[in-house]
Amino acid sequence: MLNDLKKVLVTEAEIKQIVKRVSSAITKDYKDKELVIIGILKGGAPFMMDLIKEINLPLIIDFIRVESYHGGTTSGELIFRKDIEVDIANKHVLIVDDIIDSSRTLKMVIELFKKRHASSIEVVTLLDKPSGRVIDYTPKYIGTTIGNEFVVGYGLDYQEKYRNVPCIGVLKEEIYKK
Ligand code: IMP
Ligand code: MG
Repeated sequence: MLNDLKKVLVTEAEIKQIVKRVSSAITKDYKDKELVIIGILKGGAPFMMDLIKEINLPLIIDFIRVESYHGGTTSGELIFRKDIEVDIANKHVLIVDDIIDSSRTLKMVIELFKKRHASSIEVVTLLDKPSGRVIDYTPKYIGTTIGNEFVVGYGLDYQEKYRNVPCIGVLKEEIYKK
């Protein structure tokens, strides 16, 4: 798997540092608040699992699944695949995502949660790719910002593969020709 990478953009050690920094900010900001952490499947799952272990607060977790990319590296139509099961009315919702690119996925999820009367809705993303924005959105917590590159690893896939790579990297060109 690692052999398929042309370069590593974020190392495992850097991801650990990001998790520490972001989780301590969240622990501080949500003290005495009813916190519901909602991960966007599948990509947001590894980051979320690492994050919640470092957040020193009582919290509830759930997941939502929205499909946006259809097997390639370009943005497609959005389909809701799985809804959350917890009641978020009057709760403080924190959405965990792997990467924000166009921001279309997030916008849809935020709109849905607003209708359910969450007290507040914020977003934590491991990666931010501002060059891809179609809808203007700045998440409250950002792991790191990357350029206009397609990346894989730590939840992020190319055709459903590479989610288990422990770092974030860019694939070799030859992988796309297969
Ligand atoms: P958005 O709706 O364009 O912001 O897309 C967000 C989703 O697209 C992410 O949660 C990823 O699943 C996927 N995505 C965007 N950029 C990349 C990338 O560079 N690599 C892998 N998946 C990506
Ligand atoms: Mg994806």
